[in-house]
Amino acid sequence: MNKVRIIGTGSYVPEKIVTNEELSCIVDTSDEWISSRTGIRERRISEGEDTSHMASKAALKAIENAGVKAEDIDLIILATATPDSFIPSTACIVQDNIKAINATCFDISAACSGFVYGIDIATQFIRTGSVKTALVIGAETLSKVLNWKDRNTCVLFGDGASAAVLKESDVEGILSIYRGSDGSKGKFLTCNAVPVKNPYIDSKETMGDIDNAITMDGKEIFKFGVKIIVQGVEELLKDTTYSLKDIKYIVPHQANFRIIESAAKRLGVSEEKFYLNLDKFGNTSAASVGIALDDMVQKNLLQSGDKILLIGFGGGLTYGGLIVEW
Ligand code: ACO
Repeated sequence: MNKVRIIGTGSYVPEKIVTNEELSCIVDTSDEWISSRTGIRERRISEGEDTSHMASKAALKAIENAGVKAEDIDLIILATATPDSFIPSTACIVQDNIKAINATCFDISAACSGFVYGIDIATQFIRTGSVKTALVIGAETLSKVLNWKDRNTCVLFGDGASAAVLKESDVEGILSIYRGSDGSKGKFLTCNAVPVKNPYIDSKETMGDIDNAITMDGKEIFKFGVKIIVQGVEELLKDTTYSLKDIKYIVPHQANFRIIESAAKRLGVSEEKFYLNLDKFGNTSAASVGIALDDMVQKNLLQSGDKILLIGFGGGLTYGGLIVEW
């Protein structure tokens, strides 16, 4: 089987910052409530940029950082819960935007596990020799599918995109893979369909009137998130000769600081082991793990040979993790 490495990352978030304070003007909430319950202080909200716009910008950065050309990309996998349209896929729109003319393109729906699922799928394609170079993107315009009158959900999410280029390599970069789904718990996090208009931007008066907004049972998702992080870390390490001490950072889905706090306690590690940037971006679903990863790369936190553990969990319910050697 061929070996696989992540050779470049990129991310993009919209310019508009919406603080907790600003949200307290449209729903009955406060900076104190949001930051103490979730760790989130602000998020980015798209003003007219669709998922494909943000995805294309993140993709171009990842391609540049990987030192490859768009024509070298054989496969584009785009994870999103908020595609621009049902047809064409957002992956095909991105292909055209970035001129990756030789790629086969498709979207996947795995909610907040999307980026990890995408890397997993791309890894399988490269291992079998079916493709040499793959682009994985996680991108969301969640502001379109939020009920901006529901304080239980609208304070948690943000918009953004992330991307990674994976390539066949002489050295193995994907050391362990963990994945699964539990459809029986699907009802705990739902979103029926993507509206044509963005209720945040298009009409402040009708912000809460969409019947296809995200719904969530926060307590069930909290329990699920903690369980998956703990179980995922244990399962991923089992397939290797490493222990948690050998892992430089755990890069989790950026949902909520308190989920991380509980998981860290159960794993017996410091919260510092987890890389978090949810204070700045909120929960960007399929984009979140990749935005955190690219943030780490930009801050020069990863050196060649470092081992990191990515872990995602989300609607479906879905979950997945990877141990990556940088
Ligand atoms: N501002 C002020 N008050 C609020 C807000 C808000 N934004 N949201 C809820 N409340 C109120 C509730 O109405 C409730 O009031 P009541 O007691 O008068 O009825 C009170 O706060 C407590 O509500 P709970 O739901 O019990 O609050 P909890 O402590 O469970 O915190 C939270 C809610 C933060 C969502 C928590 O359940 C959680 O962290 N869940 C994890 C889910 C998550 O992070 N999801 C992210 C998306 S899913 C994913 O990424 C996989």
